Amino acid sequence: MPSQFPAVRPRRLRRNDSLRQLFQETEFNLGDLVLPIFVEEGIDDFIPITSMPGVRRIPESKLAGEIERYARAGIKSVMTFGVSHHLDADGSDTWNDNGLISRMVGICKDAVPEMVVMSDTCFCEYTAHGHCGVLHDGVVDNDATLLNLGRQAVVAARAGADFIAPSAAMDGQVQAIRQALDAAGFFDTSIMAYSTKFASALYGPFREAGGSALKGDRKSYQMNPMNRLEAVRESLLDEQEGADALMVKPAGAYLDIIRDIREASRLPLTAYQVSGEYAMIKFGAQAGAIDEARVVRESLGAIKRAGADLIFTYFAMDLARDGI
Ligand code: PBG
Ligand code: ZN
Repeated sequence: MPSQFPAVRPRRLRRNDSLRQLFQETEFNLGDLVLPIFVEEGIDDFIPITSMPGVRRIPESKLAGEIERYARAGIKSVMTFGVSHHLDADGSDTWNDNGLISRMVGICKDAVPEMVVMSDTCFCEYTAHGHCGVLHDGVVDNDATLLNLGRQAVVAARAGADFIAPSAAMDGQVQAIRQALDAAGFFDTSIMAYSTKFASALYGPFREAGGSALKGDRKSYQMNPMNRLEAVRESLLDEQEGADALMVKPAGAYLDIIRDIREASRLPLTAYQVSGEYAMIKFGAQAGAIDEARVVRESLGAIKRAGADLIFTYFAMDLARDGI
């Protein structure tokens, strides 16, 4: 053997499955995953979402059964999105105590009290124009929207939501929601801040899932995907405002941001593998180009490795069914 041959051979620890498992650095399990779900009012049967193969809108009448099924499979948490038939200029159904948000959260908590319910807190599925807040002269009015976010948060908390998860991308939304919750006595209701949310093209399939009416874009309130410093700053602002956990969204194309925030904050950090990330894997696998099961595990493992504690993923039930 030539003397210069390396004494260091990393392949020694890769020789077989046992060794590879022993020296694997990153793991994830079902307890790290949150399943986002879509609940539509006024329908009797499941409606498949064609841009997200395997995902369906759930009728209210079948929601309790679905939550029980998820719990039996080992899912610990869901994020609820409503598909409303009561659209108006401000999304007022969201702060109606008999509205879709209140009913859907209540059904989930009644069905399985220990299921952690995170209530997506926004207006875009409840406004006729599809924007995430109140429009004034074609622009989303930040401060008017904050008031309504507070109202919606209190309604969701009263219905039993464990987490208020504001995705509207308004400045000051975490502070406004914390104040509204505390004023109403909901000191123990947590805030899952969508703290670093990019204006991403990867939300495309979600717009079909939620039946979004949006014509324009959300670039005046969601972040420019090219900004790394601002991404950290946004999450740190939400920490100061009282967030209980932070989030990076989307996840897979933003692993550097996840790592940056992991190093800048001690709060729990989550990442949202969004509808477009899901669709790319599903359709890539359907076309025979990639092995779905392996790519799913690799993508989620990479998000964990980057520093996320929890992952929002539409694959959560697939993993519960097939094992990790
Ligand atoms: C709306 C909202 C969006 C998502 C979650 N909440 C879409 C958007 O901001 O346009 C995206 C989720 C996904 O794509 O899976 N506030
Ligand atoms: Zn929105």
